[in-house]
Amino acid sequence: MAKRNDGIKITGRQRMKWFYEFIYGKMRAPWDLGPRKELVEAVEGGRIQPCRAIDLGCGTASNAIFLAQHGFDVTGTDYSPAAIALCQQRGAAAGVTVNWIEDNLTELRRVRGTFDFLVDWGVYDDLNLRDRRAYLRNVLPLTHAHSRFLIYVHQWPLRWWERLLYRLFGVAGPMQPGEVEANFGPHFAIEKLVERTLTGYIAGEAVYLMARKVRAGADV
Ligand SMILES: C[S@@+](CC[C@H](N)C(=O)[O-])C[C@H]1O[C@@H](n2cnc3c(N)ncnc32)[C@H](O)[C@@H]1O
Repeated sequence: MAKRNDGIKITGRQRMKWFYEFIYGKMRAPWDLGPRKELVEAVEGGRIQPCRAIDLGCGTASNAIFLAQHGFDVTGTDYSPAAIALCQQRGAAAGVTVNWIEDNLTELRRVRGTFDFLVDWGVYDDLNLRDRRAYLRNVLPLTHAHSRFLIYVHQWPLRWWERLLYRLFGVAGPMQPGEVEANFGPHFAIEKLVERTLTGYIAGEAVYLMARKVRAGADV
């Protein structure tokens, strides 16, 4: 944790938020790629029917707008004011109504109620280990029995130099194979839709479709 001259501590969490503010405010985000394939397939294939949905960390607005265009009652939430401004602008341009809410998924204050369908495209895996636990504490109350949850994560077994780097900088790094099952499994029945090995810095990714269990430990 760094310290500013005036003695205020700057956390890794704040740096991440500044990073997102900068990206959304100043440039086109590299992940601004339109609605994602597995979400489109789940909706257009009829696996997920129009319902009350929330896009957690809605960023570029693509997934939220896609859902609204397909008859969903959509809330989009992100902790970056610049992201929410971009979402409002894009939602208006697309002519859809989405309830855009600025909020922090590790400390929710404004998002209320439960949702039938939750989407997280690249947020949970971005958090440090403490914030991943806080996220679960905050997001679980947004679900009810049988809520569905589509989650995309970076996921691969760490290479030796990554293990060293992440430990050095105190960063959680990508999800490890089996980690989604371990963290979400007590609360959700989990289906892995896809797992891909990639070349380059991001060495792998996975998408899971989960269904909230009636109670922790139950089948579904
Ligand atoms: C990698 S981007 C993905 C954005 C979006 N899901 C997409 O696919 O276009 C991660 C997003 O999560 C948001 N985010 C990160 N941590 C958050 C938190 N604690 N609460 C709310 N949003 C958060 C960031 O502002 C950013 O928009």
